Amino acid sequence: MVIVKNYLFVNFKTYEEASGDKALALAKLISGQFTGEVEIIPVAQSLDLKEIASNVSLKVFAQHIDPISFGSNTGKILPEAVKSAGAVGTVLNHAENKVENDFIEKAVQRCKEVGLTIMLCAENLERAKQLATFNPDFIAVEPPELIGGDISVSTANPELISDSVKAIHEVNKEIIVITGAGVKNSEDVKKAVELGCQGVFVASGIVSAKDKEKAIKELLKGFR
Ligand code: G3P
Repeated sequence: MVIVKNYLFVNFKTYEEASGDKALALAKLISGQFTGEVEIIPVAQSLDLKEIASNVSLKVFAQHIDPISFGSNTGKILPEAVKSAGAVGTVLNHAENKVENDFIEKAVQRCKEVGLTIMLCAENLERAKQLATFNPDFIAVEPPELIGGDISVSTANPELISDSVKAIHEVNKEIIVITGAGVKNSEDVKKAVELGCQGVFVASGIVSAKDKEKAIKELLKGFR
């Protein structure tokens, strides 16, 4: 029997409710819902990584790194620094922080050298196919127009999910495909999984929820 692992990535973005002390509080709350069945991964701001990784026993991702090494790179995010802060991986090319292919190629290389897991974000099917050729660990398919909204990608564009899973796996079967944008409830998660994803990437559905614990519980139900 093949055991398929599922993932709930929680993007803290730069929401006030997920920055600084509140980032740690949110990570602790998320950690309280972790039972081991679904890997729940906070995706935190660089400055909050260390505090979260040292106080919470969840795998933590950075929101971005730059394809640089030790040296003169003022203002950049060094992969080694992210790793030593306790992150196990990083997101690249999020719709809110897009980068060119040559950046991605170098960044993927740097992550492999340092030992960081890589998630690349794709805004459409063509980009998903293209990004698969970089052989990341994860590709998150997220239509930008649905990000932060109330209609989920699973409802608004189910074909994008199933077509992307197929196209990505034609390039490399090992890539774990997830989806995000507007994901708010267990039905959105359930549909994403039925369409071939191994997980979802959620931000406002948890971070902006009045009752964050309830929101996490609701999303986790979608994997059962
Ligand atoms: O990275 C996940 C994110 O872009 C989706 O945001 O607020 O639609 O869950 P949201």
